Amino acid sequence: MEEENNISQLIETALLDIEKANSLDDLNECRNKYLSKKGSVSLLMLKMKELKPEEKKEYGQLVNEAKNKIESAISIKIEEEKTKVLNESLKKETIDITLPGNNHQPGLENPFYKVLGEIEDIFIRMGYEVKEGPEVVTDEYNFGLVNIPKDHPARDMQDSFYISEDLLLRTQTSSMQPTIMRLANGKPIKVICPGKCYRRDDDDMTHSHQFGQIEGLVIDKNINMGNLKGTLELFAKSMFSKDSKVRFRCSYFPFTEPSVEVDISCFKCHGKGCPTCKGSGWIEILGAGMVHPNVLRMSGYDPEIYSGFAFGVGIDRVAMLRYGIDDIRRLYQNDVRFIGQFNKEVEE
Ligand code: PHE
Repeated sequence: MEEENNISQLIETALLDIEKANSLDDLNECRNKYLSKKGSVSLLMLKMKELKPEEKKEYGQLVNEAKNKIESAISIKIEEEKTKVLNESLKKETIDITLPGNNHQPGLENPFYKVLGEIEDIFIRMGYEVKEGPEVVTDEYNFGLVNIPKDHPARDMQDSFYISEDLLLRTQTSSMQPTIMRLANGKPIKVICPGKCYRRDDDDMTHSHQFGQIEGLVIDKNINMGNLKGTLELFAKSMFSKDSKVRFRCSYFPFTEPSVEVDISCFKCHGKGCPTCKGSGWIEILGAGMVHPNVLRMSGYDPEIYSGFAFGVGIDRVAMLRYGIDDIRRLYQNDVRFIGQFNKEVEE
């Protein structure tokens, strides 16, 4: 029958077309050409109307078979085509793992933390414990319990950032003194407390609203100024120079009595006078003194039995002296070009 010939011819051309297709686009085109609503197979179906009823069944079956054949040929070819595309892209995207990688620079330590680590090591060798505490503290711990009651003029020098009327960013690590004493509960104490402090200040080369301090606190029976001086001299010798000397000048802090400013002999010129020590031969590095009886009493130590000393070192100041840094702000701006300079050891 003529129709049968037409159908097998259509199948033949379709299979050839599919065979020739070499992209997914080509195959989609084949699908449109043969299987869409207006495609060749659908057109064959339209012919049904012209056939005699007894021919219809057989014709219908033939057309359906044709449709199935073409459909499965397209599907098979699509799968082949997809595998081909995938293999090609896998080949193109192969990573050559033998190529040398990009070098990542290891992180460098900020001089602030280098100095902090060194100071901690020196005190640990002397038997001190290192205890850190909160930066947000109550007015009582920052001021009241270290003998700076409300309206005390010493508060003027330490304006802070207030979180509420009673909560502030600590202005000094001395806020750790009552914290440590209360936790020690009347027992002897030998600690250093490093950490950040904050004061309202107009930032410039030597002033910063944030800075680091290390508080030292020793409490026991029979602790005296000699112990303080010996300790600080050992610290200066280890930190700055083997021949460092320490000088005490009278000063005032509400939480120590007597109070001193501590100078060390200049480690650059060894006392002769140079730009680092501004010609004086001495460099001021910290404040210290014997713990005030009021401070001992308020945190549970009887000043008739116990005595102690305390000191506060500015970490930034030591780092600036040590490395000849001209601007305190460089210590927290985290410019890698700046930080990168402190890999090398510094000569004395
Ligand atoms: N807290 C003082 C300051 O910030 C330093 C200090 C600590 C002085 C301990 C004496 C004893 O200026």
